[in-house]
Amino acid sequence: MKMLSTKHLLGIKELSKEDIELIHETALSFKDVINRPIKKVATLRDITIANIFFENSTRTRLSFELAEKRLSADVVNFSSSSSSVKKGETLLDTINNILAMKVDMIVIRHASVGVPHFLANRINANIINAGDGTHEHPTQALLDTFTIRQKFGKVEGIKVAIVGDILHSRVALSNVFALKKLGAEVMVCGPKTLIPMHYKMLGVEICHDINFALSWCDVANVLRIQLERQESAFFPSLREYSQYFGINSKMIKNLEKKITILHPGPINRGVEINSDVADSDQALILEQVENGVAIRMAILYLLASQNKL
Ligand code: CP
Repeated sequence: MKMLSTKHLLGIKELSKEDIELIHETALSFKDVINRPIKKVATLRDITIANIFFENSTRTRLSFELAEKRLSADVVNFSSSSSSVKKGETLLDTINNILAMKVDMIVIRHASVGVPHFLANRINANIINAGDGTHEHPTQALLDTFTIRQKFGKVEGIKVAIVGDILHSRVALSNVFALKKLGAEVMVCGPKTLIPMHYKMLGVEICHDINFALSWCDVANVLRIQLERQESAFFPSLREYSQYFGINSKMIKNLEKKITILHPGPINRGVEINSDVADSDQALILEQVENGVAIRMAILYLLASQNKL
């Protein structure tokens, strides 16, 4: 059996091309499983998983929980707002108390960059990063690249424009790492204030003209403006952002080719994308969500398989 090269899923940066391909291949089988009348397999019957979310989530949290339940794992959910973290307990003490209850794997989302890496160096359980601050969101990039692969039959050579708030986006960085490892051509597009200088060193094209980016790409992965992470204003108003970078159906229809639209969610309709694009047949947004369950089943299965060796 093929194995991942790592005990944890901390970020795409730590994965090899072969790891990503193995996760995609494994997700293909699990996509069949979740489309069967009986969607459950007994693969993780003896495994307990804690989903620890210090930040809000709809898709990632529910997707992990469903993936775990479809694999027959025991699941506990932890949310910081109703926990003893509010009474001053350290993160490490909280995690060690959860592990003392015989938990095998931790899925964690945290507002601080590097929390999954910090934990991986200090505890024994498998750690899966469900988003750490503005750093990485590896399962999102794995499901985005899986969706591209399903649409085009490959990722290599596909032109992907990542559009929007690159500065505050963990989805953007994980996508750049995954797409580059798989041989895609990558462009990032947004206002100058929302594209960090270091992206030049990642081997991606940088563009500030949304119409050029759309005419260049096969796939536009549209990101929302992360107002909750912005300490100061990076553009005059949301109305102006929408005017210069928002994507509407007229822009899409004027292109020479029919491009594919991705969005990791949550969507801010009328800001980065209009409903006539988000709900069009060119958008694979809900397919991304479906693929997210299969991808997370694949990761949980592959990490748990290593523990049985
Ligand atoms: N795409 C994504 O991470 O969505 P949630 O914040 O709802 O999990």
